[in-house]
Amino acid sequence: MARITAGLTTSHIPALGAAIDLGKTGDTYWAPAFAGYEWTRAWEAEQKSDVVILIYNDHASAFDMKVIPTFAIGCAEEFQPADEGWGPRPVPAVQGHADLAWHIAQSLILDEFDMTIINEMDVDHGLTVPLSLMFGQPEAWPVKVIPIAVNVVTYPPPSGNRCWALGEAIARAVASFPEDLDVQVWGTGGMSHQLQGPRAGLINAAWDNRFLDRLEGDTQELRHIPHIEYLRETGSEGIEMVMWLVMRGALGRATRTLHRHYHVPASNTAVGHIVLEPVS
Ligand code: DHB
Ligand code: FE
Repeated sequence: MARITAGLTTSHIPALGAAIDLGKTGDTYWAPAFAGYEWTRAWEAEQKSDVVILIYNDHASAFDMKVIPTFAIGCAEEFQPADEGWGPRPVPAVQGHADLAWHIAQSLILDEFDMTIINEMDVDHGLTVPLSLMFGQPEAWPVKVIPIAVNVVTYPPPSGNRCWALGEAIARAVASFPEDLDVQVWGTGGMSHQLQGPRAGLINAAWDNRFLDRLEGDTQELRHIPHIEYLRETGSEGIEMVMWLVMRGALGRATRTLHRHYHVPASNTAVGHIVLEPVS
């Protein structure tokens, strides 16, 4: 059977992707931000997982105001990096796992999560930057990826509780797939970030770290943080953190922390990253 072996979360800041693409990760400004990913890169190389279910948000690259799916699952064989205005990032195409993706779509929909099924879409920094952070600059990504896009760009985003429950449903879907696959679930986006307006650059390190604390172990406290608290405490784009709760819901009740990293500043935002494994 397929099984979820680990989960991780990470910010998906496009400037981190640009630093990798332009060979600047060793620069004085960037080195401390990237140092916190070294442990994970070595660990991922050992894990050799088959599939990553990658929870991210599209930033008006694949979807725009014409179509706003709350939860969408990518069932294609392949996803191309999106052109976000400077041309697509120089990274490999993302290989999907259509069989598992369709199985998850069926399982989620029959489990009463009304997913939008996407058979063709390009993927932006929300998805490609985390792959670069964990795997560097390979010729081909070493895992297949099932993209799950969550709308956190246009009001109303889903609640944190609903995101957590989606993660629980993803875990049920994976556990009922007959092939022997090692599957990870990644949540991306966050932490503090306010990209525009008078509060641009807002960072609330105390709140971010308390969020990381509450992600660990046997706790469900984060399910009930209201949207307004994310906005007030962490800025308007801090709402991306509800996507971390999909990952956390998929890991079950208790987790063990393998690695944790927090760094400010990176661009206008805070970098947060945690690696968890389920404890049965
Ligand atoms: C930026 C954009 C993002 O989507 C994000 O999650 C963090 C930072 C940015 O433009 O700096
Ligand atoms: Fe983002």
